Amino acid sequence: MRHPVVMGNWKLNGSKEMVSDLLKGLNAELEGVEGVDVAVAPPALYIDLAEREIAAGGNKIILGAQNTDLNNSGAFTGDMSPAMLKDFGASHIIIGHSERREYHAESDEFVAKKFAFLKENGLTPVLCIGESEAQNEAGETEAVCARQIDAVINTQGVEALEGAIIAYEPIWAIGTGKAATAEDAQRIHASIRAHIAAKSEEVANKVVIQYGGSVKPENAEAYFAQPDIDGALVGGAALDAKSFAAIAKAAATAKKA
Ligand code: 13P
Repeated sequence: MRHPVVMGNWKLNGSKEMVSDLLKGLNAELEGVEGVDVAVAPPALYIDLAEREIAAGGNKIILGAQNTDLNNSGAFTGDMSPAMLKDFGASHIIIGHSERREYHAESDEFVAKKFAFLKENGLTPVLCIGESEAQNEAGETEAVCARQIDAVINTQGVEALEGAIIAYEPIWAIGTGKAATAEDAQRIHASIRAHIAAKSEEVANKVVIQYGGSVKPENAEAYFAQPDIDGALVGGAALDAKSFAAIAKAAATAKKA
């Protein structure tokens, strides 16, 4: 049985007040909730504050981040390393988000290097993959996802995916309110798992595959009812404690059933 993981990607949103309020709210909302791992990825500047708020709430929430550099220290102005993330208790690190692929020209190969460096440092990569609207309309979704995963498999072996998280985020569904249907998402998740199973059934059966793209409390249950959807990577709805907790609770309930 795969354990569901629901993660909030806060993107470039926050202030000291917002981070404190949101985490205090989440600490309260998640009291007694079991059967789901709940993680948050605040902007880097707020990871210190987030670590303290999470500890004050009894460490029910996993701390994450939205990016990493390929070095642990040195002359790399403006960057942030796995060693530093670990220093603040962050473990689940988002890489390859479509916004970084687009605005920072991050290639599959570059993302795969980040994946390897996170593993080397004992951190959990949350590898984002997914197709654009044009690729979707051209029927290229499965091929795009396979190519993005192969950048890791072909350089590090399929075993590298063990303990990692894959987040399938169709780009056209991100922040648009135009979520993939649960059935379409399930079909793609199954194809991603089958692609990995062709190399190792064991790894494929274990790897957590999240769906991301306009996940809300209203549609979360339908996703989690699907056998190959093991959680969610949530943007907008993760900025509200009640909404995000409702999504986490939906995962816990659905995967217990
Ligand atoms: P939204 O939930 O706002 O669509 O964002 C999804 C996302 O990009 C999470 O990484």
